[in-house]
Amino acid sequence: MRPAGELEGTVTVQGAKNSALKLMAATLLAEGEYLLRRVPRINDVEIMAELLTSMGVAVHRAADGTLVVRRGADCLPEAPYELVERMRASIVVLGPLLARFGRARVAMPGGDNFGSRPIDMHLRGLEALGASFSFSHGIIDARADLLRGTKVVLDFPSVGATENLLLAAVLAKGTTVIDNAAREPEIADLAAFLNSMGATVGGAGSATIVVEGVEELTPADHEVIPDRIEAATYLAAVGMAGGEIVLAGARADHMDMLIHKLGAMGVRVSETSEGLWAARPGRRRLTAVDIATLPYPGVATDYKPLLVTMLSTADGVGVVTENVFAANRYAYVAELQRMGADISLASHHAVVRGVARLSGAPVKAPDIRAGAALVVAGLVAEGETVVSGAHHIDRGYEDMAGKLAALGADVRRA
Ligand code: EPU
Repeated sequence: MRPAGELEGTVTVQGAKNSALKLMAATLLAEGEYLLRRVPRINDVEIMAELLTSMGVAVHRAADGTLVVRRGADCLPEAPYELVERMRASIVVLGPLLARFGRARVAMPGGDNFGSRPIDMHLRGLEALGASFSFSHGIIDARADLLRGTKVVLDFPSVGATENLLLAAVLAKGTTVIDNAAREPEIADLAAFLNSMGATVGGAGSATIVVEGVEELTPADHEVIPDRIEAATYLAAVGMAGGEIVLAGARADHMDMLIHKLGAMGVRVSETSEGLWAARPGRRRLTAVDIATLPYPGVATDYKPLLVTMLSTADGVGVVTENVFAANRYAYVAELQRMGADISLASHHAVVRGVARLSGAPVKAPDIRAGAALVVAGLVAEGETVVSGAHHIDRGYEDMAGKLAALGADVRRA
């Protein structure tokens, strides 16, 4: 890609990856046919579909794009390493498999590009509900004759642990209270889906979720919430390149803190009947701000590579602090440095000193969000930028190059 001036036009926001994957896992809870609308056409959804298929669940796209999931009576409660290794989020099948079949064999997820991500909170929470685990040859062998509701207090509001517990608790006997639960909009979306299947989940979206277990669930029809991280990516793009865009379908109420930060940096964002309108007028530089990632409703860790990229050409110095993941979720910084960014790292902090201009270079996408951020950097970097490892971006983004090109950017997929 090469700089092509300001962006202009409308982008339709895809359904949220991090909700769609969990809704797909939830279909393991009851036999029958589910209709999932606005499921993004991305590789991680393909992997989850493969995982469900390997268990005996039928998954296909209807002509109108709806994902149709049909779960028959027979299901093999196993998640093999080949699939778990490709997508850590596969671990979220553990809760529903245990709840529905009383057993599961799920490969242990390994490390990934931003450090080891343990699943101790998932396992401890499920144990409190009555599950037991044994480990051999890289496989978790899980059993639960009966899951019984109890109170679980999470050490940290982990998204995945909250989801796994929720997915098990809906069929447990009695009341489960999940305290210090994650509050992300994707959790509330999962709870809404489970409730439309006949579950009784209260408080999702707050730090205390209360689940009254039911005997049985039935399939449902659900529309996935919009992807706030994809929306943020195009907000960062217009923040970097300038111009004026509309994000059709985006939800401002899921992005309050980010919109506030972007406002302080000089990007104007407002809610419209269609979604969001965003603009950065003229050639004025962005203003540097300090940023700390936090669980929702704080600034999401997934926005961080985008914000660091914006700070790299902003006026002033911004200090960015990572509070959600291990310090090494900064792999893309070396790539931005190759493009001329002035960033120094110390433990969980990055100090970003804005430079006047980035310089186009061949760079490598280390993961989904960092890959997207490097593309955004390439929109303004002088000369040509080539982002390799674009398959990482395809895991989470529907046609990123096409959507940017439609806004007038000079981007193409090789
Ligand atoms: N953690 C533990 N033990 C656990 C679980 C988590 O120590 O049992 C730690 C993690 O290592 C991490 C922190 O808790 O330091 C938060 O992890 P969390 O469980 O909240 O994250 P996740 O469920 O693995 C989801 C998203 C991520 C997003 C994080 C944080 C999905 C599929 N993934 O991951 O999204 O960054 O929440 O909001 O929902 C992405 O979309 O590119 C992505 C990585």
